[in-house]
Amino acid sequence: MKRVFNFSPGPSALPLPVLEKAANEMTDANGSGQSVMEMSHRSKDFKPIIEKTEALLRELMGIPANYKVLFLQGGASLQFSMVPLNLGGVEVGTPRKKAAYIDTGIWAKKAADEAVKFIDATIRASSKDKAYTYIPAAPAPEAGDAYCHITLNNTIVGTRWAAVPNTGSVPLVADISSCILSEPLDVSQFGILYAGAQKNLGPAGTTVVIIRDDLIGHAPSWTPALLRYDIHAEEGSMYNTPPCYGIYIIGLVLEWLKDLGGVPAIAKKNQEKADLFYGYLEKSKNFHSPVEKSARSLMNIPFIPKETDADKRKDIEGRFVKEAAAEGLINLAGHRLVGGMRASIYNAMPIEGVQALITFMKKFEGGL
Ligand SMILES: Cc1ncc(COP(=O)(O)O)c(C=O)c1O
Repeated sequence: MKRVFNFSPGPSALPLPVLEKAANEMTDANGSGQSVMEMSHRSKDFKPIIEKTEALLRELMGIPANYKVLFLQGGASLQFSMVPLNLGGVEVGTPRKKAAYIDTGIWAKKAADEAVKFIDATIRASSKDKAYTYIPAAPAPEAGDAYCHITLNNTIVGTRWAAVPNTGSVPLVADISSCILSEPLDVSQFGILYAGAQKNLGPAGTTVVIIRDDLIGHAPSWTPALLRYDIHAEEGSMYNTPPCYGIYIIGLVLEWLKDLGGVPAIAKKNQEKADLFYGYLEKSKNFHSPVEKSARSLMNIPFIPKETDADKRKDIEGRFVKEAAAEGLINLAGHRLVGGMRASIYNAMPIEGVQALITFMKKFEGGL
């Protein structure tokens, strides 16, 4: 078996022991004589799976008892609508509410653009002036804000909030799709956390929402049932059929993480991997990180050629991605909107993957 090092921003590499366990249990999970994919979500066989997944997530993230954990569908993108609808939607004919958004990249902006359909969402701080290469100072919360929304790790541009902003009594909502479980996070600082699973948690198709109890139950009466947090919370994520197989794989990923020593242990590994790669970029003659040091992501590391001639640069980027792939280092192209290269090094990427990338880069740079 030859496994590649997959630097994809998502869907991304999963830990090999997780894939092997899932393969072993594919046709007979837990002695049930069936695959998890074939189980009724309401059966005695599936119930322990979803319960175990939630319990492990609570344990690993230290989720307080006054928060619900929901396993939903629709990706992180559906949360761009559900958050403003549930926290800020109003009955027809009543004045609209307002919310603060901080624009730190393409996903953050998408969240704000979607929110204005339901609430007066204004961008109170932005790093767009410098191509999103830094994290702006957090604005002071305003009285009457229903919430403040941030994107804790910006997958495309490779920035992260190194410190969680203090929004006082205004609930802080964070998209943690590309950094969940990558380093310790104090859940009690947030009103809502949400993440698409396909980076640090499992396969695409499941979205995890962690929501404080007092923020549940405020959706206006016209809200479609499937978009209401209160219904999903009351039904234990089983109002309709949940993404059963995804929840099962998330459970296996969480078991793997717990065996490794949990979030503190993986955070140490993530820091080592990031230090190694940023350290290489600092010394590289031909590539550099466009991101301000204080804002650098541990998970997504964009890097661009120093070459200033546009045609030559394009040529370098094309050859880099192709030649790296030929050596089993795949998905290193930057996002189509920003170009360059990007190495996404989520929890499942071993340090050997980063070492192999650096070895390749040394060789590649030698030929430039
Ligand atoms: C930070 C962030 N938010 C939202 C999304 C969109 O997620 P989804 O495709 O699950 O809707 C992504 C996708 O990569 C992301 O990185």
